[in-house]
Amino acid sequence: MTSAPSTAPQPAEPLLALEGINTFYGPVQVHFDLSLKVGRGHIVCLLGGNASGKSTTMKIILGLVKPASGSVHFAGQPITGLPTPQIVRRGVGSVPEARRLFGEMSVRENLLMGAFTRKDQRAVAQDLDRVLGLFPKLAERLTQRAGTLSGGEQQMVAMARALMGRPSMICMDEPTMGLSPLWVDRVLDLIATINREGVTVFMVEQNASLALEIAHHAYVLQTGRIVLDGPAATLRTDPRIRDAYLGGQDAG
Ligand SMILES: Nc1ncnc2c1ncn2[C@@H]1O[C@H](COP(=O)(O)OP(=O)(O)O)[C@@H](O)[C@H]1O
Ligand SMILES: [Mg+2]
Repeated sequence: MTSAPSTAPQPAEPLLALEGINTFYGPVQVHFDLSLKVGRGHIVCLLGGNASGKSTTMKIILGLVKPASGSVHFAGQPITGLPTPQIVRRGVGSVPEARRLFGEMSVRENLLMGAFTRKDQRAVAQDLDRVLGLFPKLAERLTQRAGTLSGGEQQMVAMARALMGRPSMICMDEPTMGLSPLWVDRVLDLIATINREGVTVFMVEQNASLALEIAHHAYVLQTGRIVLDGPAATLRTDPRIRDAYLGGQDAG
């Protein structure tokens, strides 16, 4: 099973803060006055049914979708409206939905793509060693084409690739989607490991009960509105969470 969350200190200032976000796709409003915070050193989980606006929240943080109003602050600085590469350079890493590897490229080439914003080649080589230390199975697969790996192995590559950018926070959109139960446990364990190494994690996860085992805090999004949030340990026993997310039913 997954390991318990680290006892991260409660920070005075959050690493990430979304404030009063309203988002539209054409005429359709997806977020309604959405605000949330991610404490430095924490794992924060965003729960919610299909089409509630979870992926769009990730895209806003990464600058891939622009909100009509509201602000995103990272490490105390406004990043709203910045181009994605600038946001990445400030320390935001991403493990996108469905992993999005370069299937024709080797594992090694995929990992180095994660350092594309960096010019310090010596440090990049050191980071490759460090990341392979965290994911020893990938060390045996460096020359293999990424597209030939299993789903779980591809997820490891996506996480390792994100770490190659030396992020202080990683955003993960449904990291266990489509994986076998064994790999779901492994991937969540790796997320807890990455977090213990000092990386803050903001993740969307369908496996609510497992996610709440490794998370410090969670938010529940329902059709674009945060309807509930609290410490993961409290939410695990909250009947509203149990009924909507822990019974295997999608609350849409
Ligand atoms: N590029 C897009 N253009 C128009 N509508 C979109 C686009 N992306 C997502 N949507 C819609 O916005 C809503 C929220 O989507 P999304 O953020 O992907 O939700 P979730 O990740 O919670 O399933 C859904 O109704 C979806 O159909
Ligand atoms: Mg989604």
